[in-house]
Amino acid sequence: MTQATSRSSELFERALQAMPGGVSSPVRAFRAVGGTPLFVDHAKGARLTDADGNTYLDFVMSWGPLILGHAYPKVTEAIAAQVTRGTTYGAPHVAELELAELVRDCYPTAERVRFTSSGTEAAQSALRLARAATGRARIVKFDGCYHGHCDAMLVAAGSGAITFGEPSSAGVPNEVAELTSVVPLDDEDAIRDLMKQHGHEVAVIAIEPVPANNGLLLQRKEFLQLLRDLCDEYGAMLLFDEVISGFRVGPGGAAALYDVQPDMVAFGKILGGGLPCAAFGGPEKVMSHLAPLGKAYHAGTLSGNPLAMAAGLAQISELASGEAHKRLEKLGRRLQTGVEKVLCDEDLPVRMVRIGSLFWFSFSAGDPPRRADEIPTSCAEPYAKFFHACLQRGVHLAPSAYEVGFLSTAHTEEDIDLAIEVFTASLREALA
Ligand SMILES: Cc1ncc(COP(=O)(O)O)c(C=O)c1O
Repeated sequence: MTQATSRSSELFERALQAMPGGVSSPVRAFRAVGGTPLFVDHAKGARLTDADGNTYLDFVMSWGPLILGHAYPKVTEAIAAQVTRGTTYGAPHVAELELAELVRDCYPTAERVRFTSSGTEAAQSALRLARAATGRARIVKFDGCYHGHCDAMLVAAGSGAITFGEPSSAGVPNEVAELTSVVPLDDEDAIRDLMKQHGHEVAVIAIEPVPANNGLLLQRKEFLQLLRDLCDEYGAMLLFDEVISGFRVGPGGAAALYDVQPDMVAFGKILGGGLPCAAFGGPEKVMSHLAPLGKAYHAGTLSGNPLAMAAGLAQISELASGEAHKRLEKLGRRLQTGVEKVLCDEDLPVRMVRIGSLFWFSFSAGDPPRRADEIPTSCAEPYAKFFHACLQRGVHLAPSAYEVGFLSTAHTEEDIDLAIEVFTASLREALA
C-alpha cells in the first residue's frame, strides 16, 4: 500500500488551487508529517477507503464523533428517515427536544441545553454566558487545552507574568487576548496564585477535563476538584469543555468519571452522530441568562438542525446505558496491554497513554506528561516516521504527534490485534 497515491495527489494539487492549503481544517493538510493527504472516497465501520481504492483501518474516526463507527446503520437510517421530512425548519421540533432531554438525563448539570453547529460556537457561547452571569470579563484557560477557534481562546501565556495572555493566532487583537489568562495544567500553585490575585475578575475557568488536543494530558481528580473549589471561593464559573470527552469516557462524560461537577458544559463531536452539531448547557439558573430569557445573546440558523438532531438522537440513545463504553474499555485495554508488552520487552522509549477509547503515543520514556510543556518537541520527527509506517501497513492515524487516536464500537478484537502488530512494527521502524 502506498501513501501518496496518484488520485489523492492529483486531487490535492487541484484542491490547492481552490482552498487555502487544499483543506477545510489545517491539520488535514499533513504539514506535521509530510506527504499528501488521502482523499477519502467512502467509509464504513472501522475502515475508510481512499480515492485510489486503498482501504485503511481508521483510528481518526473523523476526530472523535464516530464512536459507533462510520455509517452506523441506526444513525444513517435516522438521517434517511428525516431527510424527506425536511432538512431544516428554523422552528422547534420534537427530535431537538428529545435530544435535549436525553443529554440532560445523561449529564445532570445540563438542566438546560442550547444547540449550536460547532464545538467552537458552543465554547464561545458558554464563555459569553459566563461573562453575562458573573458580570466579569476575565477567562482562565490552560496551556495545552483547545476550545475551538474563537478569539478569546486563541491565546497563549504571556511572557513574564501569567496574568495577561498573548494572541496565538494572527488576527486576534491584543486587547482580546489580554482578557484571557493561561495557566499550566496540573499546577496547583499557578492557578491558586492567579485566583488569589485576580479571582474577583474571573468569569470562568475553562478546561478540557480530559485534555486531548495536545497529546493526552490526563489530569488528577484533585486538580479538577481544586478548580471546582476555587470557582466556589471566588464566585467564578467552571466550564468543562467536553467536546471530546462528552459521551466518550462514559454517558456522563468526565464530570461523572471524576465526580466533579462544572457550572457549564460544552459538547460537540459525538453529540451530532457525525453531523455538524454541538451544544452548551448548565443549570437552569445559569442558562436563564441566555436569550430569549436573559440578555446574553446566542442564535443560529441551523441550531437544532433536524438532520443533526436525528443523527445525534440515534447515536446518544445507543450510548446512554453505558454498555458501549464497557466494550470500548475492553478494546482499549487489549490495545494498551498488547502495545505496552512490546514497548516494555524491547525497552522502546515510547508510552501509550489511554483513557477508555482515547489513546495517544507519548514519544518519551518517562511518566506520561500531564502538562503541555512536558511533551518534548523532538516527538514530531519520530512520529512522522511512525505515522507513515502505519499508513503503509494500512492503518490510519491522525497526521500529528499531538493528536489522539479514537476507538469505536465498530473496531473488533481482530482489528485491535492487527493494530498492535502494525503499531509495534511501525514503532520499531520509526525508532531504528
Ligand atoms: C475540546 C474541544 N473543544 C472545542 C473544539 C472545537 O470544536 P469544532 O471543531 O466543532 O468547532 C474541539 C475540536 O476539536 C475540541 O476538541
